Amino acid sequence: MQNRDRTFLMVKPDGVKRALIGTVISRLENKGLKLIAMKLMQISPELAARHYGEHQGKPFYDGLIEFITSGPVVAMIWEGDDAVEMVRTMIGATDPKRAAPGTMRGDLAVFMGKNIVHASDSPASAEREMNLFFSNVELCTYKLPHENCLYD
Ligand code: RTP
Ligand code: MG
Repeated sequence: MQNRDRTFLMVKPDGVKRALIGTVISRLENKGLKLIAMKLMQISPELAARHYGEHQGKPFYDGLIEFITSGPVVAMIWEGDDAVEMVRTMIGATDPKRAAPGTMRGDLAVFMGKNIVHASDSPASAEREMNLFFSNVELCTYKLPHENCLYD
């Protein structure tokens, strides 16, 4: 593995209600990423405001907070080579109508406000979001037997 890093990914309430948790996890597992933390949880308004703080004041902010707190989400941390960039590529553009086929949003969603998944958009965001949702003791360390087949 050249540049192992970690990223935060969340299946949003629409993804949970549409029973797409397994599909999202499968795509990431099949790619070769490693799941090191996961929980099904209800996001409080306070946590939602911290998570999406960068969007405060924007026209879609109130709807975004209402949506992300409307049902359970699955919060996860994934590890792999350049994981932040790789997972952003795999989830696709924010607007599912413009997301490329083959991406999660491109294949599984149709509407900007219900785009199935969230993923950190930079290493700094990943660090911040992992700390918002998980404590260090919740992160697991293990080796995948096939790791040697994935990397040089
Ligand atoms: P996310 O944070 O949820 O992974 O999405 P993202 O990085 O692709 O997009 P971001 O700009 O961070 O926006 C967060 C969420 O807000 C909704 N949104 N609506 N109506 C609009 O113009 C608009 N822009 C953003 C989307 O649901 C987006 O996922
Ligand atoms: Mg974002």
